[in-house]
Amino acid sequence: MTSTPRPVRKAVFPVAGLGTRFLPATKAIPKEMLPVVDKPVIQYAVEEAREAGIEQFIFVTGRGKHVISDHFDHAYELESQLEGSGKLKALAGLLESLPPNGSVSFTRQQRPLGLGHAVWCARHFVSDEPFAVILPDDLMVGTPGALSQMIKAYNEVGGGIIVAVEEKPREETRRYGVVDPGKWHGNTVEVKGIVEKPAPENAPSTLCVIGRYILPPSIFAQLERMERGAGNEIQLTDGMAKLLGHEPFHAVKTECARYDCGDKVGFLHANIALGLQRPDIAPALRKILASLPK
Ligand code: G1P
Repeated sequence: MTSTPRPVRKAVFPVAGLGTRFLPATKAIPKEMLPVVDKPVIQYAVEEAREAGIEQFIFVTGRGKHVISDHFDHAYELESQLEGSGKLKALAGLLESLPPNGSVSFTRQQRPLGLGHAVWCARHFVSDEPFAVILPDDLMVGTPGALSQMIKAYNEVGGGIIVAVEEKPREETRRYGVVDPGKWHGNTVEVKGIVEKPAPENAPSTLCVIGRYILPPSIFAQLERMERGAGNEIQLTDGMAKLLGHEPFHAVKTECARYDCGDKVGFLHANIALGLQRPDIAPALRKILASLPK
């Protein structure tokens, strides 16, 4: 029997990236605010965290990201106008999407030194407890949500590190953290090693990390060393690798669909797939798709 690990109450959202792949759309608005159907990408990530029982939402932002904080706050003028004009469904939707008062905090990554550095920037907000990291670019769709599935695994294995993984074609390992898997228990596998963006011929497997993590606070001491890894960046993967043998370490294959909204094709895929799941949009969208030239 494993003992019940400490609960995961906090989630860190690294959102400091410049989104250059989506220029000019992201010149004046953050890439996290681009809509998938009618919701910004970042809202999907926050909703997934709320569903998983997260109570504190910590955003690691950068210059030009202030609209993210506006998005998770009241918009009084808009709300009173919706109320006055009887658009109560839209109003309820807005209010429902607001995290509770005082549950959202913002800190800034002042220099683009990598994902590990971004997570390290949240250390004072996370303090001495386990926490989740959600990369909003990886839009995960499923019920229960990806983080809920990971927290379930976290409780089953007795805590430590949990990463979400997916099988990818070997030629894509250069885009991901890749794990060296040990023994499987259902959809959970022990992690014996992890490496950031290996060349296909050096990858320990084709099980690639996607943007969901549960981490112990001991990660901060590793990130604090500011050691540079792949791409000369401070990598979260390297921090986790240093904890191998000190913390239980598992990977979970979630039963979620993943859309890479950091990539143009992935972003369009997300819009079409989620549009097709919406009863108010799906029939018209299906017609349009069928009418497109092959
Ligand atoms: C980051 C991580 C990588 C992970 C990926 C998932 O890379 O460093 O380990 O596999 O996210 O999306 P990035 O996409 O920021 O280069």
